[in-house]
Amino acid sequence: MAKSNVSLRVARNAKNDEFYTRYEDIAREIDAYYEYDHDVFRDKTVLCPCDDPEWSNFTRYFATNFQRLGLKKLISTSYAYSAGSRRLTLCEKDSPYYDADKHATHGKVFTLTGNGDGNTTTGTDDTTTRSGSTATIEFSGYLEGDGDFRSDEVTALRDEADIIITNPPFSLFRDFLRWVTDGNKQFAIIGNMNAITYKEVFPLIRNGKVWLGTTKPHDFVIPNDNGLIDMNGNDVRKFGNICWYTDIDHGQRHKPLQLMTMEQNLESNKRLRRRFERDYGKIEYPHYDNYDAIEIPFTECIPSDYDGIMGVPLTFLDKHCPEQFTIEGSQRWDKSDAVRSVYCGSKETADKDLKTTIHGRETYDRIFIRKRRL
Ligand SMILES: C[S@@+](CC[C@H](N)C(=O)[O-])C[C@H]1O[C@@H](n2cnc3c(N)ncnc32)[C@H](O)[C@@H]1O
Repeated sequence: MAKSNVSLRVARNAKNDEFYTRYEDIAREIDAYYEYDHDVFRDKTVLCPCDDPEWSNFTRYFATNFQRLGLKKLISTSYAYSAGSRRLTLCEKDSPYYDADKHATHGKVFTLTGNGDGNTTTGTDDTTTRSGSTATIEFSGYLEGDGDFRSDEVTALRDEADIIITNPPFSLFRDFLRWVTDGNKQFAIIGNMNAITYKEVFPLIRNGKVWLGTTKPHDFVIPNDNGLIDMNGNDVRKFGNICWYTDIDHGQRHKPLQLMTMEQNLESNKRLRRRFERDYGKIEYPHYDNYDAIEIPFTECIPSDYDGIMGVPLTFLDKHCPEQFTIEGSQRWDKSDAVRSVYCGSKETADKDLKTTIHGRETYDRIFIRKRRL
């Protein structure tokens, strides 16, 4: 690829990475983990990479809730080239570690540590806790490099931490998830729903190593015309397909879907009837051309009385209860023997067939599931 194209791509990716998460969206998700298990963060070190406290609500949330969650330590690092890092804040400027030559080119580290009596240490930047007391995160100095999460120094912080929580750069989602799972850490990270279908991501979901969180953030703060982040401002962009990827347990994933039988759905679900009539000319669950498996266009229409393989939309994962269904593969990859055994398409094997078709027409992205045998 020509050099100018590469730099254009890098610039575009960098721009697409500058979306900042709102406090309430972080609180709703993290509180759901805490509600499910009050000890989930107790005595744990949380690392928020890509997150300077001056502009990151991740750092702000964990500093604010440090005592309530029972955290041992909060570490947050910033990336030198992020829009948020441009502003020189008092927290950095008033610190003995401040170095004007490093401000724009080096990542920064901030830490907050419990002092053993349930209180947090004091420093320069105030974050008011729920109880009204003050928890403070300290500027602990500059990183050797720019704060790239893949660097040895941020990786060493990953290794020190128990849980990694952030909204990583969208353009590096695959690398970020690999970085977190390679470190064998618990995590909750924001990403695009489309990542479910990635070859590197789907097997983790199928094997129960990653699942979706409980909420869907829609609004993200974007840099203003001067390239600065104003977390209180109105520079917000809406997204319809963002979710949390996590391996922290929560109550929603243990609530089985309440489902009706095939006959009840076909009789009473108007949306389903309309869809089947329009697309296939018959009000019945169609079988794929290439799999002996049925097509389910809407999660709520999964029949309670079908024991075979079913193809469901990606949004099923929002409601997936592992005690109720097993994930058997995606239409593209990571197919179980059960899926392979119902393959009846024209390719040599199911693994070589990346589509599901009905009457010769390709369906939307599908995940294969099967009712768990009790
Ligand atoms: C989607 S934004 C989210 C920022 C913040 N975590 C939040 O949610 O408010 C991702 C951030 O990662 C930064 N970033 C980009 N590449 C990075 C890298 N290689 N290492 C660390 N951070 C990076 C971007 O500059 C951007 O600020």
